[in-house]
Amino acid sequence: MPHIGIAAELKRFATVPVCAVGSIFSIDQAESIISSGKSDLVAMGRAQVADPEIVKKSLAGHESDIMECTGCNDCVFWTTGDSQMYCSVNPALRKRDEGIVNDELYELYRAITEIDVFSPPRVYIEELLKVICDNLKYRFGTVIEVDDHGKGWLIASYNAPENYIEQVHRVTAPVLSSPSGEAIELRRIVVVRNALSDPRLAPWCGIVRSYNLKTIIWMPLFGRNRVYGTYVLYDTRIRDTSEEELQFLERIRVMISIALTSNQYLDRLIRKRRELEG
Ligand SMILES: Cc1cc2nc3c(=O)[nH]c(=O)nc-3n(C[C@H](O)[C@H](O)[C@H](O)COP(=O)(O)O)c2cc1C
Ligand code: SF4
Repeated sequence: MPHIGIAAELKRFATVPVCAVGSIFSIDQAESIISSGKSDLVAMGRAQVADPEIVKKSLAGHESDIMECTGCNDCVFWTTGDSQMYCSVNPALRKRDEGIVNDELYELYRAITEIDVFSPPRVYIEELLKVICDNLKYRFGTVIEVDDHGKGWLIASYNAPENYIEQVHRVTAPVLSSPSGEAIELRRIVVVRNALSDPRLAPWCGIVRSYNLKTIIWMPLFGRNRVYGTYVLYDTRIRDTSEEELQFLERIRVMISIALTSNQYLDRLIRKRRELEG
């Protein structure tokens, strides 16, 4: 309670009631400040963010149920880079504000906010794949860019097995005949839970078998007028992917799409500079 001395000093001269504020985290502390005569009132901000029921619980004698503010300042969102306020000890508030009710997704959200948005776009995409795979326990992830003729190539990956990319490139079947093509054409997520039994993956069945791939998820990457490709997550388990997880992956699709267009722009810029430098 670092500011109580200031309140007490003010009270010596003030002709109006004085209110103390700053790091008053319990009703006991509040009561002792007022009973000591150092201030007339107390304001409790973060204590009520941590537990909006603090007064009610205290009056009912349920102090042990109170979620006490730790003073960590994670709620001070204008300094943490978060777009909304959340509290590290009040998960109900945190989840409601973020609209995320699943702890795994919440941790993923946290990890994403820690990625440096000023990284080169390709690095940013790889970081996104990394945090998705690490937090949601996918085996690996890739981002495939597709041109206007349906020709696809790998632009970024995380944790892909050695030689995986070479093997995929060796398959001559058009990308657009795969579930990736369906995702691109219909602009929607395509989930395959048992890759070996999906006829659309027949040309790739050797690869699917050798890496024991079960669940594969394709997310289309697109802007208003153009499709850029897909981002793909692979797992060796048959996953029961929740609607909430898919919605979250859908949100990440937008971030990867933006980074991909930035990358294309950067590539064009570098090519132009090389041309000019001769
Ligand atoms: C999330 C958050 C938002 C705040 N917004 C404002 C604000 O808009 N205006 C203001 O004067 N103080 C604001 N404050 C400061 C509080 O009013 C208060 O002075 C400060 O949190 C110290 O009190 P506490 O230790 O009880 O939290 C904010 C504090 C927090 C934690
Ligand atoms: S985020 Fe930290 S400082 Fe803010 S209210 Fe919660 S516990 Fe207190």
